[in-house]
Amino acid sequence: MVFTRQDPPSPLRAQRGLLFFLVAAFLLSGCDLSGGGSSSFPEGKSVRFAVVADPHFYDTDLGTEGEAFDAWVNEEIKMIAGGEAILQETIRQILDTEPKPEFLLIPGDLTADGDESSHQKLTEHLYALVDAGVDVWVVPGNHDISNPNAFAYTSQGPVGMYSPDAEQFAEIYRDFGYGRAIKRDPDSLSYIAEPVPGLWLFGIDSNRYRENVNSSIVGGRIAPETMGWLLENMRAARENDKLVIAMMHHGIVEHFLGQGDFMPDFIVQDWDAVGHELAVAGMNMMFTGHYHTQNVTRRDWDDGAYMVEIQTGSLLTYPVPFRIVDLEMGPQGAKWMEMAIESRFVDELPYGTYPDGFCCFGYYARKFTEHIVFRRAMLELEALYGMEPARAKVYAPLMTEAVMAHFAGDESPSFSTLLRVIRLANDKDPVISEIGLILASLWNDLDPSDNNLLIQIDAPPE
Ligand SMILES: [Fe+2]
Repeated sequence: MVFTRQDPPSPLRAQRGLLFFLVAAFLLSGCDLSGGGSSSFPEGKSVRFAVVADPHFYDTDLGTEGEAFDAWVNEEIKMIAGGEAILQETIRQILDTEPKPEFLLIPGDLTADGDESSHQKLTEHLYALVDAGVDVWVVPGNHDISNPNAFAYTSQGPVGMYSPDAEQFAEIYRDFGYGRAIKRDPDSLSYIAEPVPGLWLFGIDSNRYRENVNSSIVGGRIAPETMGWLLENMRAARENDKLVIAMMHHGIVEHFLGQGDFMPDFIVQDWDAVGHELAVAGMNMMFTGHYHTQNVTRRDWDDGAYMVEIQTGSLLTYPVPFRIVDLEMGPQGAKWMEMAIESRFVDELPYGTYPDGFCCFGYYARKFTEHIVFRRAMLELEALYGMEPARAKVYAPLMTEAVMAHFAGDESPSFSTLLRVIRLANDKDPVISEIGLILASLWNDLDPSDNNLLIQIDAPPE
């Protein structure tokens, strides 16, 4: 297991700070030392929680038949038909974890394409967690609300299904965020919850479902009114001595250099300014999904502000990950916290829940994803660069290898792959050089580690 540390922890510094606080409080208030704020996160307290991203749940009773269904699965690289079995196994593993996580975060794309039946059936599984003592907190993703692409895939072809609006979404998930929030944003489905005393969870709605017309808008943004609400409540969090964690569907920092330009739909609009503003306000970490890769990236600004984004891959795509997080706070009042993040993978499913001919589910998940990625690499090399299939076949395996590594996180090319990528990037042919540069960018894993790591969040400047 590889752990990386952002900065050395500073318990001594924090303890000195606490000592100073106690002495000052005594001098200022005589003998009254009671004012510590009983709802602060207690000294030395730790909390364990789990993170699942993009489960894209689909009620298979609606149908999994026809060419349209196959095209949908291939287009989106999602093991839709096996989604329920994967979710059940994930829940089993979360409940079997010792000690058991206190809550689960799901940062959006709860459903495949937002039909009501899939939402309702998903909540039945989430209630199983709550009944076993694991609270669940969700926010929507771009697929979940007022989605014109909600279909039942019947043998007669796709049939349009109703997709709940924002108000109905909040009602469906009333026990998984919206009915239990301590504050709700009047302009979006953002909310604040206190999953354990002293810890505020900011669930941020970064979706544009109100603008959906013929399809769901993939890109995300935080509206100015919601941004104002977030900043105001970050001030309240600091005034009330609350630790802050946050989640939203869209990315907030680049996961590879140039993502903001090449794949703007996967990172929130004005990501640099939005991330900086939140970071200055003291929001320094964000759990996300959307891009379906295992990736943790830290962005530092010149003024010392920083944001660590912990993006978790989809439950329906290789490597079928979820995360277990142990959050520990320093002495009360010091406001720093550490998060030990461990990634786990669903490798085994009961026989019959994935196609015959594979040794195990983990191998099937890899082959399923690899097969589609290879085919798409071939199509894109032919379409974008006008390559003949025979020539595209030279580069498609390299693209596939890099994309699969990107899905899994902690990208580390073999020496021979690295040499080939460098040669391609330096090729005189601009097309080949461009392919080489894309590959180099995919293999360039931005700090810190993606799967297992230790993150320290420092106290915001006073
Ligand atoms: Fe997704």
